[in-house]
Amino acid sequence: MILETFTFPETVVYALVSWCVMLLMFFLARRYRRLHVAVMSSIITLDFLFPFYLYLTRDWGRRLFDEGDILSFMLWTHLLLVITMYVLYVVQIQAGRRLLRGEGQERSGLRSEHRGLGIAILVARGLVVFTGALLVESHYEAAPSFGLMLGACGQAAPGVFFETRSRCAPTVSKKSSGTASKIC
Ligand code: HEM
Repeated sequence: MILETFTFPETVVYALVSWCVMLLMFFLARRYRRLHVAVMSSIITLDFLFPFYLYLTRDWGRRLFDEGDILSFMLWTHLLLVITMYVLYVVQIQAGRRLLRGEGQERSGLRSEHRGLGIAILVARGLVVFTGALLVESHYEAAPSFGLMLGACGQAAPGVFFETRSRCAPTVSKKSSGTASKIC
């Protein structure tokens, strides 16, 4: 079963769950105004703190320099998306604060601007989570993440993107007994 090979680290689980909560709060914004503001503010705050958590819990020196991920296309794509998301957050907070001050009552344009920004945030955050999940595996592997992304082990199954550990397990070949080789 492909599903059995999926491994979600705590970071991807959090990102996926909070994306779903964000989506829910997007649709419930008008009905549960205060809850909307509280939940969105919390998720945005946690998103700003997220890089610090990653910095404290991952070995970035080894990952970026020893394993050469600093040159990974996926890593830079991810970084660009993260920056885009943060910029959208800042603009959205300003729009949200203006709505809270009551400016949205007179100008319906502000509300549609806030809604439009909300859609952009959901898309950007979704892409951040997806590219982040693609980067997970190479954290545990010496191989370049782009190679892993393309399924370096010859696996086209999407499950390969979400694993945190290598699927290539050392095994003893039956023909040449005692010889350990890697199978994928
Ligand atoms: C700190 C951040 C935010 C604040 C302070 C805030 C505040 C508000 C306020 C005051 C409203 C007006 C609710 C009403 O009409 O009674 C609103 C509506 C809305 N918000 Fe936010 N919001 C924030 C973040 C977000 C985010 C991140 C999204 C989407 C991902 C979002 C999506 C929406 C939507 C779709 C509406 C309904 C707009 C409409 O159709 O009138 N908001 N928000």
